[in-house]
Order: sequence, then structure tokens, then C-alpha cells
Amino acid sequence: MKKFHILTIFPEFFEGFANTGIVSKAIKKGLVYLNTVNLRDYTADKHRTVDDVVYGGGPGMLLKPEPIFAAYEEISKEKKPYVLITEPWGRKFDQKFAWELSEKDEIMIICGRYEGVDERVKAIVDQEVSIGDFVLSGGEPAALVIMDAVIRLIPGVVGDEDSLRVDSFSDGLVGYPNYTRPPVFKGMEVPQILRSGNHKLIELWRRWKQIENTYKKRPDLLKKAELSEKEIKILHYIKKGKEFEDFISDNKV
Ligand code: ADE
Repeated sequence: MKKFHILTIFPEFFEGFANTGIVSKAIKKGLVYLNTVNLRDYTADKHRTVDDVVYGGGPGMLLKPEPIFAAYEEISKEKKPYVLITEPWGRKFDQKFAWELSEKDEIMIICGRYEGVDERVKAIVDQEVSIGDFVLSGGEPAALVIMDAVIRLIPGVVGDEDSLRVDSFSDGLVGYPNYTRPPVFKGMEVPQILRSGNHKLIELWRRWKQIENTYKKRPDLLKKAELSEKEIKILHYIKKGKEFEDFISDNKV
């Protein structure tokens, strides 16, 4: 069972997430344990203060270190978790990072707030993490995004594990287009190949589309993708503006 400990001043933020869809099923199956920790429960004063002014002056308030350390120390009594803190400048969260986190048994995510957290909290942090180059008002949406991406990688969570294998980004490329019924909708037709029953050809067409989509939508990904000789050939065709059918007939597939 994978455990997530989320340190937050808004535990209610995670209720809908924990009670919906795949995540809710994973929790019910006992594959995931979601421990939302209200930092106010770890304050010592009667006002349950979680934030304070900045030393040296400056706008806004910072999350105090004591409640965060107190929660961390209690959680660590059982097992030391891998500790993340959400920060806009942290390591960029991506599918590779999600796979790495899926290997950890216990993950603690400190949700940043206000103008930030007291720097001394970094003493317990293994990794600062960002979900993109934009500023959120707090780390809660980031924690939710990270958990969602990691939870679906846990064996047994997604019904058909093949779907993980063909995910966009699983091999560094954008996904291929999919269709369901009806075969013709508002004049738009499902590609004939997908209805041909020729599975080898379908597989090749899908690979072509992945490479084409990546080239058109996320060319930056192609630099890192490990393409086979055949796939490099496909890319050359796409760059020259040629069609899948040209590739088929030129290469006698
Ligand atoms: N906190 C504020 N902005 C953030 C971001 N983009 N990612 C993670 N945490 C954040």
C-alpha cells in the first residue's frame, strides 16, 4: 500500500479528490492510503496559528516551521517518508518523475502557502517540486496533480494496465488519436485503417500518428525520444509532408 501524507491548512480541498473515480477506488481497495494532515492540529497556541510575519520585513506571511516539523516527526515515527514541498521553482513534475515517485512507499507533500514557508523547513525536504512555470496561490492543486499522476501508476489501480504502456509520454511521445462509434459523425469519418482489422497495419499507423503528433505539437520531445531506424524513417517522411500511404507503398509494408 502506498501512503501519501499531505500537510496542508486546507484538508477539505482533498475531499472531492479522495471520493472520486480511480482514486476513490484505489483507496477502497487498500492500494492507497491518503492521510491529509491539518497543520492547525499541530499548533501549540490557542489561536492555532500556522503563519507569521517575515523577518527583515516584506509583504505577506510565511508558514511557521513548528507545525510542519511536529507533523513530520509524528509521521516519521513509523517510517520516514520521501518528502516533497510544492514550489514554483522546484523540479518540474513530469511522467518520469511520476514513475520515480511510484516506487516510493511513503510520500509526504508539504503544500506551500502565502508568500512561502520558513526556510528551515527545507531541512526535512528531499525534493522541491513544481507542476509548471506559473504561480498558484497554494500548493494544494499541485499536490493533487502529483498524487493523481502517481496513483494511476500503482499496479491494480487502472483496470487495464496496457493503457499505461500506451499513455502519452510513456515512451516520450504524444499519443495517437482514438475513435469510438459512430463510424461517421457530422460527416467526419473514422480512418478506414482502424476498421480494417489489420492489426499490424493499425499498430504502424498509430506509431506514425504518434510521431506526427509529436512533431507538430511537441517537437521538443523528439530530441529526447529514442526512435528506432524505422521510426526515424517515418519522421523523415512526415518532415517532407508525405502521407502514411506513401510510406506503406514505398516500403512494401
Ligand atoms: N506553488 C505555487 N505555484 C506552484 C507551482 N507552479 N507548482 C508547484 N507549487 C506551486
